[in-house]
Amino acid sequence: MSDITWHQALVNKQERSARAKQKPCLLWFTGLSGAGKSTVANALERLLFDNGHHTYLLDGDNVRHGLCGDLGFSDDARHENIRRIGELGKLMVDAGLITLSAFISPFRADRQLVRDLMPVGEFIEVHVATDLATCESRDPKGLYKRARAGEIKHFTGIDSAYEVPEQPEITVHAGRFDPQQCAEQIIDYLRQQQVI
Ligand code: ADX
Repeated sequence: MSDITWHQALVNKQERSARAKQKPCLLWFTGLSGAGKSTVANALERLLFDNGHHTYLLDGDNVRHGLCGDLGFSDDARHENIRRIGELGKLMVDAGLITLSAFISPFRADRQLVRDLMPVGEFIEVHVATDLATCESRDPKGLYKRARAGEIKHFTGIDSAYEVPEQPEITVHAGRFDPQQCAEQIIDYLRQQQVI
């Protein structure tokens, strides 16, 4: 690494953001599998995009097919998954985009690592606080059932920990409210904070 120097680009983040007429940020959704992270993030991206914003959504299940296709679900693999997504999210914010990411990201230290990559105010943690019983009863992919049967090891909430965020910027209760309502709650926050 010491032989590599950082090349300063001639077009900078401020210029890109100004052209896009927005304050870029990384909206980091975290929560259990089946909590509704992707659904709420998709609904929010739709609202932002329809309001003229430039957006991109990074989704756990999709990114694990490509960029992180080599990673499993051990603690180390999840750490590397989140590290890569954090770096990718940072580049997307640098490109001037309002970036949304939807990953379980179960460990506080890993989420903090991503927060620390970003300037203050640009990392916005969104806890999708659907409880385990609700996620398990929904079980959209049948994975909880398989984890309970011992067919999947290290499943978050079953035999791998989920560390609840202590001070997320936003908590949405996707077990009680529908995805559209949760997305609108986040829009309200972004307006209050003058992000949009
Ligand atoms: S993370 O923990 O590294 O952030 P990520 O969000 O990328 O996880 O992927 C989670 C998705 O992978 C889940 O929604 C589920 O569909 C699938 N999955 C497969 N095995 C596991 C497992 N052991 N624990 C959690 N999710 C799993």
